Amino acid sequence: MKNILITGGAGFIGSHVVRLFVNNYPNYNIINLDVLTYAGNLENLKGIEDKPNYTFVKADICDYNLIEEIFSKYDIDGVIHLAAESHVDRSIKDPFAFAQTNIMGTLSLLQAAKNKWKDDFKDKLFYHVSTDEVYGSLGEEGFFTETTSYDPHSPYSASKASSDHFVRAFHDTYGLPVLISNCSNNYGAYQFPEKLIPLFINNICNNKPLPVYGKGENVRDWLFVNDHARAIDVIFHKGKLGDTYNIGGFNEWKNIDLIRVLIKTVDKLLGRKEGESEKLIKYVTDRAGHDFRYAIDSTKLKDELGWEPSLQFEEGIEKTVKWYLENKDWVDNVTTGGYQKYYNEMYK
Ligand code: NAD
Ligand code: DAU
Repeated sequence: MKNILITGGAGFIGSHVVRLFVNNYPNYNIINLDVLTYAGNLENLKGIEDKPNYTFVKADICDYNLIEEIFSKYDIDGVIHLAAESHVDRSIKDPFAFAQTNIMGTLSLLQAAKNKWKDDFKDKLFYHVSTDEVYGSLGEEGFFTETTSYDPHSPYSASKASSDHFVRAFHDTYGLPVLISNCSNNYGAYQFPEKLIPLFINNICNNKPLPVYGKGENVRDWLFVNDHARAIDVIFHKGKLGDTYNIGGFNEWKNIDLIRVLIKTVDKLLGRKEGESEKLIKYVTDRAGHDFRYAIDSTKLKDELGWEPSLQFEEGIEKTVKWYLENKDWVDNVTTGGYQKYYNEMYK
């Protein structure tokens, strides 16, 4: 039996990773540690809360003493670290929260792991989940590889870059067994409706304006969240210690083209006239420091560990839109209270 600590398991990607590990590895005890910010929601874990190999612990990764206690209490052997502040627009408004959670929180986990495992690092693993945004922004050509230099531009990506550096520093200085992956934009069920895809699905359904930043020409590389969770599984079990793996689906979309696919899909599923919701598109002031293009080269992950995305984008988008339409209660629950205040301030 292994005891695996997954942080941020009540969030979007974390909940998919927790579900996959709890269901596929009955010989692991999965300890889901999450402080439940606005982005963390235990409803994301429906169906697995009662499984015998699952435990939820409400805790803040920045609370070092508590984290140390949790490592001892659950005799942790492995960590998959996803907990973070994750939304770029929020980082522009409140960079301190991002430095605190993403840098200090990661440091607190690294230090607790090192102190718990210091006598014997054998069969121990600290896996840090990161983002392609640490590499900065591409022009029209080229891809991010594992050796691309870091060049973060937003407070979010600067904080994630810093956390990546701390993880490597613990490997190089103390010999902590670590792995890092840097993934492109995820989409799918349970994503908080502040991010482009769920926000726009929700607004199309409610006939609200679709705030397109700048000219809508920025490019993102989209991956279905379940494919990211599968990649994390493969890297956790087969990755080479100390290495970094890029994760992405070679699936680039200009924002405005993606938005048109969303409009088409939602209109079709709601029985509206084709393109009826195009009138909701509203070009607004660009995001400050808006990275132009992200594109991941995930050849290493495919060649060394055999991972490939399982879904075509149109199929993934249709599944995602259907999920949001069929789970209106979830959307309603997470868009009350604090969400309305955030939305009104962000899009006034
Ligand atoms: P999310 O915002 O949906 O979830 C983050 C989770 O972390 C929430 O459950 C929240 O409650 C928890 N959390 C935040 N602060 C915490 C703290 N101090 N202590 C304990 N828990 C805390 O994020 P996400 O989109 O699921 O991203 C998960 C990870 O994957 C992040 O590290 C992010 O940088 C990375 N990532 C995200 C994407 C993407 O497209 N969403 C792509 C690549 C990498
Ligand atoms: O690349 C990985 C990253 O992808 C993750 O590390 C982040 O956690 C995740 O939030 C995501 O960052 P982005 O900034 O790329 O995602 P977001 O959904 O916020 O925006 C996608 C694109 O859409 C981006 O070019 C900005 C644009 N956008 C976004 C919103 C919310 C709009 O035009 N209008 C909007 O209202």
